[in-house]
Amino acid sequence: SLARWRSLLRLLSMMTDPRLAVLSQSLPQLRLLTDAADLEHYGRDWTRRWTPAPLAIALPSTVEEVQAIVRWARESGVAIVPSGGRTGLSGGAVAANGELVLSLERMNRALGFDPVDRTLTVQAGMPLQAVHDAAGEHGLVYPVDFAARGSCTIGGNIATNAGGIRVIRYGNTREWVAGLKLVDGRGELLDLGRGLVKNSSGYDLRHLAVASEGTLGIIVEATLRLTDPPPPTSVMLLALPDFDALMRVFETLRSKLRLEAFEFFTDRALHHVLAHGAQKPFDEVHAYYVVVEFAAGEAEQVAALSAFEQCLGEGWVLDGVISQSDAQAAQLWRLREGITEALAQYVPYKNDVSVRISAMPAFLAETRALLGREYPHFDVVWFGHIGDGNLHINVLKPEAMAQADFVAECERVTKLLAGALQRHGGSISAEHGIGLVKKPYLASTRSEAEIALMRGIRRVLDPDGLMNPGKLFDEP
Ligand code: FAD
Ligand code: MLT
Ligand code: ZN
Repeated sequence: SLARWRSLLRLLSMMTDPRLAVLSQSLPQLRLLTDAADLEHYGRDWTRRWTPAPLAIALPSTVEEVQAIVRWARESGVAIVPSGGRTGLSGGAVAANGELVLSLERMNRALGFDPVDRTLTVQAGMPLQAVHDAAGEHGLVYPVDFAARGSCTIGGNIATNAGGIRVIRYGNTREWVAGLKLVDGRGELLDLGRGLVKNSSGYDLRHLAVASEGTLGIIVEATLRLTDPPPPTSVMLLALPDFDALMRVFETLRSKLRLEAFEFFTDRALHHVLAHGAQKPFDEVHAYYVVVEFAAGEAEQVAALSAFEQCLGEGWVLDGVISQSDAQAAQLWRLREGITEALAQYVPYKNDVSVRISAMPAFLAETRALLGREYPHFDVVWFGHIGDGNLHINVLKPEAMAQADFVAECERVTKLLAGALQRHGGSISAEHGIGLVKKPYLASTRSEAEIALMRGIRRVLDPDGLMNPGKLFDEP
């Protein structure tokens, strides 16, 4: 049978690779996968640009197993790629060079809720949606949220400092991590932060793990802050003529409403989500759209209407609709949240850039001119978290173009974009991480001194350079 054939294959590869034989012997309970289909499945993330080629997949179920795997990695010189839900968009979880993928898939349980501290302690492989559900069972919320919620994990969210659609009100993942446990590259278990609200006893090492992209070790547990649920909200979709209007609508609504989200997308993005099954919101096509979620008591509804009328009167808004039910709200959200999936079939080249909100108008003017000039015949899809100063600029490959030529062309333009970011004090990765995709441009966001410090920290926590090597920066 297929199962017997597979276990025979596994046995064979263990026998042919002495390093795996040692791992298997020292941890007989450890689940190890070596089937071709598993290597392919666990060796890639959403970027789909690299050919997966891991040595094997380890699925530990305890912290002790994770530590033992790191000790084995040091003895046998095998690199480790920590792996969550592999929804990452920067190639951070890719294993293309004979690494051991260490998947947190089996470490996915809630470990405890503290009603006084209002914290939830979870294993790092817990999916974001499961964290939302667990918080909800206690009448609270974990407010970091985005479309990959069903598949991405808390460990991956912390390792990339994930943002999402509610950063404008609640901040990034970093703000919600009260403590975490990290198995570093020496195999040491570090208990960082320990859930304290106040702690001025030196460096806050917990924050080193946030956005570390697996390069300092493996996050095995996290203690997350929870908060009160927001008041009931409404969702409004507005159509706008230009980017100028976008910034003005943002300032107007932010001053009059309690915003829970303010997200934008362009006509090209709408085109792709509609082609992917979403429902058309307006008869006419407009250049820009925003999805706004806001607290919707009686007073706020009146304020929203008057703000809407003001924006309409100024010509900043051309059309609009406000949800009358949860189902309508979900339908409007789908137009924004469905973009990534709708574009996935094209394997887009993704940019995820940020500048300070105050720098946005000048940066935008420069970037639009730059991309208009450099990408005259490409489908360029803009969307993102405009209220956080974060733009997603996705470039789709023309059908006739070879993939390698397309990537080379995009990298040439990204270099120019990185220059614009440097001039405007922005970041080449707002929320997706650097990984493999943005590694060549790290120096546009971080100074030489900063990069040298990051490398130094890595050397202390991962002296052998075995924790996700080649991601974030090249190995020395
Ligand atoms: P993975 O992809 O598995 O890994 C990401 C990185 O973290 C890798 O470098 C990996 O080595 C490391 N890592 C994973 N687990 C651990 C661990 N336990 N310890 C140490 N390192 C670890 N991101 C946003 O920020 N905002 C969004 O709005 C957003 N929307 C998305 C929508 C869709 C449809 C998709 C597919 C992705 C989206 N993303 C978004 C990107 C992605 O979901 C996030 O980066 C997410 O945080 C990755 O989590 P993951 O568990 O899938 O991590
Ligand atoms: C989003 O905001 O939708 C995500 O960051 C995903 C993406 O950029 O595709
Ligand atoms: Zn995003």
